[in-house]
Amino acid sequence: MEPQRNAPGGLPGSKMMSPKENLAITVNGEAHDLEIPVNRTLIDLIKDDLGLVGTKDGCQQGVCGACTVLVDGVPVRSCLELAIRCREKNVTTVEGLRENGRLHPLQEAFIDNGAVQCGYCTPGFLIMAASFLKENPRPT
Ligand code: FES
Repeated sequence: MEPQRNAPGGLPGSKMMSPKENLAITVNGEAHDLEIPVNRTLIDLIKDDLGLVGTKDGCQQGVCGACTVLVDGVPVRSCLELAIRCREKNVTTVEGLRENGRLHPLQEAFIDNGAVQCGYCTPGFLIMAASFLKENPRPT
């Protein structure tokens, strides 16, 4: 007998039918209650369900870091994370780095120094740098 290739729920990120569950999640300070397939990745939730397009999907294999967001303050590669595992958590995307309607100082510094290059990986750089500076406010 052929082994079942996809257990119920399918592979993370697959388009196969998947059972759904309710998810309460806070993204950039805004609470959401959604019903999502259990195999929905966090990046798909952020971009497709919430329309936050700042986070980029580069490799979709956890290698490039372009998709990095903060989950309860910890950097996470959202292409590898299941959204359902973020239940009751706080997610911060590059859009959420803004405070009081102003760009984060890192975002200003990237602009001032032309550090965007093509810009595709910039959100990942900004999220990682913001996380680093929070942990190390006075780096050498
Ligand atoms: Fe490259 Fe997620 S898209 S690590």
